[in-house]
Amino acid sequence: METTMWTVDKDVDNLVTYPQIIEAAEKLKGNEVVAFPTETVYGLGGNAKDDGAVAKIFAAKGRPGDNPLIIHISNLGQLEHFAVNISETAQILMETFWPGPLTLVLEKREGVLSEKATAGLSTVAVRMPGHPVALALIEASGLPIAAPSANVSGKPSPTTAAHVHEDLDGRIAGIVDGGPTGVGVESTVVDCTGKYPVILRPGGITREQLEETVGKIGEDPALTDSSQVPKSPGMKYRHYAPDSPLYLVDGSAAAIQQLVDEKRAAGMKVAVMTTEENKGFYRADIIIACGRRSKLETVAESLYDTLRSFNETDADIIFGEVFPVAGVGEAVMNRLTKASGNPIITKNL
Ligand code: TXA
Ligand code: MG
Repeated sequence: METTMWTVDKDVDNLVTYPQIIEAAEKLKGNEVVAFPTETVYGLGGNAKDDGAVAKIFAAKGRPGDNPLIIHISNLGQLEHFAVNISETAQILMETFWPGPLTLVLEKREGVLSEKATAGLSTVAVRMPGHPVALALIEASGLPIAAPSANVSGKPSPTTAAHVHEDLDGRIAGIVDGGPTGVGVESTVVDCTGKYPVILRPGGITREQLEETVGKIGEDPALTDSSQVPKSPGMKYRHYAPDSPLYLVDGSAAAIQQLVDEKRAAGMKVAVMTTEENKGFYRADIIIACGRRSKLETVAESLYDTLRSFNETDADIIFGEVFPVAGVGEAVMNRLTKASGNPIITKNL
């Protein structure tokens, strides 16, 4: 399949009337799948009401069928068609954080969306993305748009159109290139079907922001205890992994350097994933800085691009620094531990 590229300037007025947006929306209406930018990562969109369109999303990504998709909307009026019994708390969260990087799990109205999109669950995950291109495309299509991240399953999520192209060229109808995304990690997924909201996946809206708005917030025990089954089906899969093994190290730069030296002495090509502040410290074969430690938003923003860039090196092994689990650091560490798949090495000198 020929994958069309549409380039769009996200800052122009009246995007919804742009020929590129209209063309991409026509593909969506024809039940083809199209990648588009959101403020978090690029999504791979398709008509959430059509089994065939949703099947194309799963096929292009190689995604397991038991992992439901987030339904993207551009206005609140779309919500009542497929969600019911929306709690007051959920409404406050929408008013406060939409459009933005927050996904709410709500009770589903049966018979409207493709069962494949929600993996047969009685709930539905919804978000209104805070990106002008995403909003214009959804509006022009007039559809609820099912969209997972536009990467091949297991790989780091895409934060540029080039990442999407790398993974999905020839497998999807088109890519709307609206530039790099911004937040860099996916939306926070919050279950709003119980007594109080529960975080199923940390993301762009922080726990602190949620608590400030609605008070008590729970957390899926599976986020900190790997023996528990996650309530968000996607959280049980390994994700975001670079090709070479990644080990996170909780320790000083000097402690990490000692690990690097040991592996190099054994003849391995060793990479370090660090930050702007520390990159001058290391002696290694490959050193890549992922944002600034003093501003964790910059780490989130470049996280997936950094993970992908190790695949362009000949590293045999990667050592990575850890980050404080606060603010967006919670999402960063969630993604990094999944990317690693190995226990964190604690090393004191
Ligand atoms: O920022 C984002 O959320 C991006 C952009 C494209 O919007 N999308 C994204 O989608 O990250 P995806 O498919 O990569 O992750 C969706 C997550 C998965 O962990 C999935 O299991 C969970 O949301 N999810 C979807 N529906 C759910 C439901 N009804 N109950 C619990 N978890 C659900
Ligand atoms: Mg994903």
